[in-house]
Amino acid sequence: MLKHFGYFILIISLFNCNSAEKEEKAVTIVDGTERYDVYQGSEMANLMKGMYAYNMQLKQEVIDGKIVSEFPEEFLKIHTAKFSESKSRNQTFDHYSGKFIEAQKLVFSEDSNTPLKERFNNGINLCITCHQTECTGPIPKIKKLLIK
Ligand code: HEC
Repeated sequence: MLKHFGYFILIISLFNCNSAEKEEKAVTIVDGTERYDVYQGSEMANLMKGMYAYNMQLKQEVIDGKIVSEFPEEFLKIHTAKFSESKSRNQTFDHYSGKFIEAQKLVFSEDSNTPLKERFNNGINLCITCHQTECTGPIPKIKKLLIK
């Protein structure tokens, strides 16, 4: 069951916009209430990692055909979280973050005629679309979230 956002920040890796898998370091966390901050990324980078981990679990729920989690309100921090020093909020980011949140929410909608898998992939494709505009490094990793 997906209860706390802290639980989603499980994937701890050292990679950023410019490099896909540079020195990736995975840490296995057994207890969902513990948080291991081995790498101090920006608020935005940490949020992104949480979104990645969350969608990895959500993908399985979509494959199983049953959504048991809810839209994580923490994702709305995308509108306010601080960026790494080299980055800043701009119109393109605000545009795509709005579109992404909209698409991600639709995955949890019970009255949609669009197949679940398609709604899930639409959300992930918006992660990718935004990343193509300014942060291409993680794209190969994000693509792994897509359901074929
Ligand atoms: C509106 C644009 C936008 C959307 C949507 C978006 N990202 Fe990001 N992402 C960024 C930016 C910009 C950064 C760099 C943040 C920083 O360095 O402070 C980033 C960073 C990342 C990182 C690297 C974090 C690190 O370790 O430094 C990952 C992984 C990531 N995003 C995955 C995702 C996933 C998965 C989704 C969708 C569920 C997503 N992103 C949606 C713009 C976006």
